Amino acid sequence: MTKRVRKAVLPVAGLGTRVLPGAKTTPKNMLNVVDRPILSYIVEEARAAGIEHFVFIVGRGQGAIEDYFDSAPEIEQTLEAKGKTEILADVRRDLPHPGQMSFVRQMAPLGLGHAVWCARDVIGEEPFAVILPDMLMAAERPALAQAIDAYGKVGGNVVVVEPAPEGETHKYGIVALEGRDGRLNRMTGMVEKPPLGTEPSNLFISGRYILQPEIFALLESLPRGAGGEFQLTDGMAQLMARQDFHALEYEGTTYDCGDKIGLLRANVAFALRRPDLAAAARKAIEELL
Ligand code: G1P
Repeated sequence: MTKRVRKAVLPVAGLGTRVLPGAKTTPKNMLNVVDRPILSYIVEEARAAGIEHFVFIVGRGQGAIEDYFDSAPEIEQTLEAKGKTEILADVRRDLPHPGQMSFVRQMAPLGLGHAVWCARDVIGEEPFAVILPDMLMAAERPALAQAIDAYGKVGGNVVVVEPAPEGETHKYGIVALEGRDGRLNRMTGMVEKPPLGTEPSNLFISGRYILQPEIFALLESLPRGAGGEFQLTDGMAQLMARQDFHALEYEGTTYDCGDKIGLLRANVAFALRRPDLAAAARKAIEELL
């Protein structure tokens, strides 16, 4: 029996360099895809996978995230007075139950490994999920739920991967597999941002992880890795000496919203999936083309 995954860590402190200047005053994960911030979709995905507690690792100037997940009395009262019940329900949809969200400050941008380590006291001694909120994943069964299903089968640690675009493996964490049979395979190694030509496979770590709490002790004493940052991949590679890791190629489509074109693609794709907007969106796009 595996222990249930109840908590998720969402490292959101990144500067959003690829989507500046917009990300200067709006945290990059608060940029809209159609009419909701990216984080709204991410929280929805996590809830659908049974996550009950969200641990945001935030940086300075990201108060908008906390405000978004709080009630907004002026807006709500106005909508109520005007009888705009549908919009009101939509505004309230993302609100957590009291106590379901924690915000931890990462005081310096020292890397993903450091960001996850900042969550150690809030996570405690239980398995947890890590979600990279830049990566919006559209899937019939939500990506994190697929990862938790896989974890239920194999236990240990599970990392979602997918084939990297040709010639781009050096931008990501890349995994090595024991063999490739179906979508869930045992891993034998992983490396962060390997120089081109040295990558152990074409599969990159794309942003959903199920990890055991033993990772925290390893993150604590991690040497700096790729880019001079404390890398989660290096911590996981160490944990692999003691615990099982499986890579899951999930079924769905990933949009990298930390990137201009990725964000544009997500906007187009999510508008086309919305029953209330699809026809008008298609017409607008066709006219532009
Ligand atoms: C991070 C992770 C990397 C992963 C990538 C996915 O890198 O360190 O392993 O493949 O996210 O986007 P970053 O994008 O922060 O450089």
